[in-house]
Amino acid sequence: SSNKMWGGRFASGPDAIMEEINASIDFDRKLYAQDIAGSLAHADMLADTGIISADDRDKIVDGLNTILSEIEAGTFEFSRRLEDIHMNIEARLAELIGAAAGRLHTARSRNDQVALDFRLWVSAQLENTETALTRLIGVLLERAEEHADTVMPGFTHLQTAQPVTFGHHCMAYVEMFGRDRSRVRDALTRLDECPLGAAALAGTGFAINRQQTAEALGFSAPTRNSIDTVSDRDFALEFLGLAAICGTHLSRLAEEIVIWSTPQFGFVRLSDAFSTGSSIMPQKKNPDAAELVRAKTGRINGALIALLTVMKGLPLAYSKDMQEDKEQVFDAAETLELALAAMTGMVGDMQISAQAMKAAAGAGYSTATDLADWLVREAGLPFRDAHHVTGKAVALAEEKGCGLADLPLEDIQKINGAITESVFDVLSVDASVASRTSFGGTAPANVREQINWWRGRL
Ligand code: ARG
Repeated sequence: SSNKMWGGRFASGPDAIMEEINASIDFDRKLYAQDIAGSLAHADMLADTGIISADDRDKIVDGLNTILSEIEAGTFEFSRRLEDIHMNIEARLAELIGAAAGRLHTARSRNDQVALDFRLWVSAQLENTETALTRLIGVLLERAEEHADTVMPGFTHLQTAQPVTFGHHCMAYVEMFGRDRSRVRDALTRLDECPLGAAALAGTGFAINRQQTAEALGFSAPTRNSIDTVSDRDFALEFLGLAAICGTHLSRLAEEIVIWSTPQFGFVRLSDAFSTGSSIMPQKKNPDAAELVRAKTGRINGALIALLTVMKGLPLAYSKDMQEDKEQVFDAAETLELALAAMTGMVGDMQISAQAMKAAAGAGYSTATDLADWLVREAGLPFRDAHHVTGKAVALAEEKGCGLADLPLEDIQKINGAITESVFDVLSVDASVASRTSFGGTAPANVREQINWWRGRL
């Protein structure tokens, strides 16, 4: 049989494969609450503007509320034959209230309807992401405060570079997740326009009130161009884009946790709650949660590329291609939420080995720069010469198999006569870290200042 919603010009129903490729109900049923909210606002506006009667509006409102409770109770029967969430709900409304149901779709198209539903869904998800990020930042701030004085090696090329503190390192991630959170807020600002009333693409001849529906649905204003409104999925792309960037940050931290938790590094010990054992090797404690956070980023990136690829080259206005937006966004949203929660849990209860960090911080001549800086400050050498002298001292220490601070003064003086006993004051990792007082530097006092700055912004 032909379709109830648009069957007028159709003699027969769709092929089974057509139904299979066309139906979106299996995934877009997630939008039921948004769809009903949109219809309620639309029905109210249609009655207030005199386009439908108050009596029909009341029937529609009652029917939609019944449908909402049916869906929430799990008694609603979704049908693939009815394609999507919009037509499933409208068909049920017709069953419940009869002819009045047919008036709901006046001055509306599924094109502005789906743009509205999906915007509302993405907007709610952005709020969730913001909350999850705030939680993660909060946990990182706690760890940073606890370890503002805990010295660890800072790396470049994953080779020991200069001593830093674990607190400072945590705060680097606070900056990243803080930027992610501001990207969420930016996205929410741009998303804040209501599509309802754009209709199919050209707007409508009915005297609708778009301000009213925009306001009823919590938007600041209606969208300005009806063609753009039904063609635009920037809000979904922005969500995926910020999710991919946030995933990248999560993945870098996850990778560091994997490295830090190896017996070779031994910087952190994951809690039992966030690690797994091996079925054959009894000694193993594996950082599976960190590995999975690292890997899940791949899925989010995939979703971003998939939707960018769907949208590129689409002529204006709506094309059915755009139905492919939802699964990507739903999957990425679920993935990001899980990854953020797992990271928050892991960071919150991992144990930090200050001892292992400090031992490693002193290895690899990490205070060589401090020696060079001392030569500049105390002996007046140009930095390039100081660099050269220090290189010689490092080579000597390497030859003797000791650290810079363990070299006898006479030996260093043979490299440069201006060096005195006081050089040893700057060669310890604690002295090195304490000296880095430039704005944004790793000195514990600075890090505490940054922690306070962020606390005021949570
Ligand atoms: N299920 C469709 C989607 O998700 C709804 C819009 C249908 N519009 C249309 N012109 N066929 O995009």
